[in-house]
Amino acid sequence: MFEVNDLHSAMIHRRRAMEAVNLTPKGKKIVHPAARGPRIFADSAAIGDIRPLYEAGIINGVTTNPTLLKKAGAKSWAEAKKILTAILRLMAPNPVSLELTRTTVEEMVIQAEELRKLGPANAVIKVPIGGYTALAADKDPYTGLKVLRRLWERDIRTNATLVFNSTQAFWAANAGASYVSPFMGRLADYMYKNDQPELAPGNALYHIIDHKNSAGDQRTFNSEYVASGGARKDSGVRLIREIAAIFANFDIHTEILAASVRNPVQLTEVLLAGADILTVPANVLSTVADHPLSNEGMLSFDTDAKVFAK
Ligand code: E4P
Repeated sequence: MFEVNDLHSAMIHRRRAMEAVNLTPKGKKIVHPAARGPRIFADSAAIGDIRPLYEAGIINGVTTNPTLLKKAGAKSWAEAKKILTAILRLMAPNPVSLELTRTTVEEMVIQAEELRKLGPANAVIKVPIGGYTALAADKDPYTGLKVLRRLWERDIRTNATLVFNSTQAFWAANAGASYVSPFMGRLADYMYKNDQPELAPGNALYHIIDHKNSAGDQRTFNSEYVASGGARKDSGVRLIREIAAIFANFDIHTEILAASVRNPVQLTEVLLAGADILTVPANVLSTVADHPLSNEGMLSFDTDAKVFAK
């Protein structure tokens, strides 16, 4: 089973140099107990989803990507920029990641400057770390690293995206990335698809929502997931743990932004593994406060409380 990281003091030391949330305003008697709690970002480009989460104090930032922008209705670069500008304004001064769509170093640096102007206070430029040679064999494999370095030189904050191993993560940090985004959900998806889940019960639980529990319900509860070793082979969590250990060992302040989250169990796992920030789709965020036993308890308290309505 996945074990909690033992680099605790180094991790705390590293985190002290990083941004705090939940600051306590002057004059308040109760100091906020989680000033250094994990930051939660919305992984969305739909302002209708983002606004209520922000106004309720649930999120501290936003991450977007071309797929999310398309989903939010953008049909051109101009429309995409309009959506991004609205999100940047709403969220300022909290960070909003805007992904580059050009794929050569020079064009990407120009596009990054264009995006920075949409929200100079809070735009973070998302740079795919790799995958350029998949677009064309003669593309420069170091494109992402070069862009990260160039943007750091220009004082532009960056988020290295499409991170699937810890080498990509520390290389991105060395290039000057402010954030790295390990895609834990896509790794789990890949394992699930390729590991013959029906032959390996632990693996079958990567998608806990998709599976029946022992009572035949179409849901596997957290305790069953952990007890059955569901987390053991979860390479997404292992990846975050590796990055957290490396960053703690070298006192690297690049923030680990756990991305591609599929369910609330993964949220707990990545925090135990050492993620600094979680970026979560609105549909997963809405299930965070849920648990079958919370539902059961709520129903019974509500029933018993009826007598006090009189
Ligand atoms: C991260 O910043 C990405 O936008 C996102 O988490 C990708 O998630 P997906 O695997 O659900 O597309």
